[in-house]
Amino acid sequence: MLFLYAMKRKNILPASLANIRRGADILRKGGLVAFPTETVYGLGAGVFLPQAVARIFEVKGRPRFDPLIVHVASLEEVYTLWQSINPRVEKLIHTFWPGPLTIVFPKRETVPDIVTAGLSTVAVRMPAHQVALSLIREAGFPIAAPSANRFGHVSPTRAEEVASDLGDRVELILDGGKCERGVESTVLLGEGERLVLLRPGAISVEELEEVVGKIETVLPSSSILAPGMVKKHYAPSLPLYLFLGEVSDLFRCELGNWVVLSPFSLSLPGKSVVVLSEDNNLEEVASNLFGVLRELERSAFEGIIALPVKEEGLGRTIMDRLKRASSGIAEIKENRLILIDK
Ligand code: TXA
Ligand code: MG
Repeated sequence: MLFLYAMKRKNILPASLANIRRGADILRKGGLVAFPTETVYGLGAGVFLPQAVARIFEVKGRPRFDPLIVHVASLEEVYTLWQSINPRVEKLIHTFWPGPLTIVFPKRETVPDIVTAGLSTVAVRMPAHQVALSLIREAGFPIAAPSANRFGHVSPTRAEEVASDLGDRVELILDGGKCERGVESTVLLGEGERLVLLRPGAISVEELEEVVGKIETVLPSSSILAPGMVKKHYAPSLPLYLFLGEVSDLFRCELGNWVVLSPFSLSLPGKSVVVLSEDNNLEEVASNLFGVLRELERSAFEGIIALPVKEEGLGRTIMDRLKRASSGIAEIKENRLILIDK
């Protein structure tokens, strides 16, 4: 058993320069390399190698209609992907790159269809992580990479989580420790001068609006502009229900073998509680969320009762991920917990 465990993880290597170069070599030969970014781990292939990109979809079990983000290390590389740029997008790039902001804009013909799921746009971001930037530079081309999880599972924030989802189907996992932000990048669509939020992420809408003015947050209901925004997308294998009621009511309620997941410091004597940030810091809540969900999956608990945060700033992103992970809402009636599926 121990032997098997070691075998399974032999593709994880520390992200030293020598191993980054080894990774770049694998990418040039059409292989896959998982690497850390400031948000979550990515599963990368060379963007101009369609057969390598096709393997990303196979390894993840991801449907081909869900396009990938292309990661760049320089502004010159952006011009090999986008046809043009406008002043609003330029301002965003200068303010937030490198960083957790992805921008979707019309693509050049040379970007393979498999990367963009046949769309005429391509999503691009410059990650704020030395390992990711160095891997792109050493490879000599941008890297197409979704989050390095099995499709439908929470995104990995540690190298071991990548290995537990993808095993040895990826040639190399560069271990750069825990991802600092812990939630994925914010995805914006540029449509002419309009900017539309496709996915809330590590940079809040408020921060973006301070720099470029109005960001539209409502998608036309008919469009599938962000195919990855399917309703349930970040589900842990343990049932999770959001509790929006009075926390004091939980105290009087029999919770059995369920654990309360609280963003902030909370004392509920006699109950099992996991706190995401004892310092009541929203950034820390985001940073710990996915890792804790994965730890709870491996625990003996039967389910999770998750408490909400206020839906503003980074709180909007945290609530987005919690709602996607949830099976429904938990309520308390006559001191009994009632689960209502969505
Ligand atoms: O932080 C992140 O964004 C991480 C790291 C690895 O960079 N990546 C990530 O990738 O979360 P992924 O594939 O899990 O999510 C990409 C999202 C999906 O919702 C996808 O549908 C959307 O971006 N997307 C990509 N290209 C698009 C396009 N051309 N049009 C609309 N949405 C697009
Ligand atoms: Mg993903």
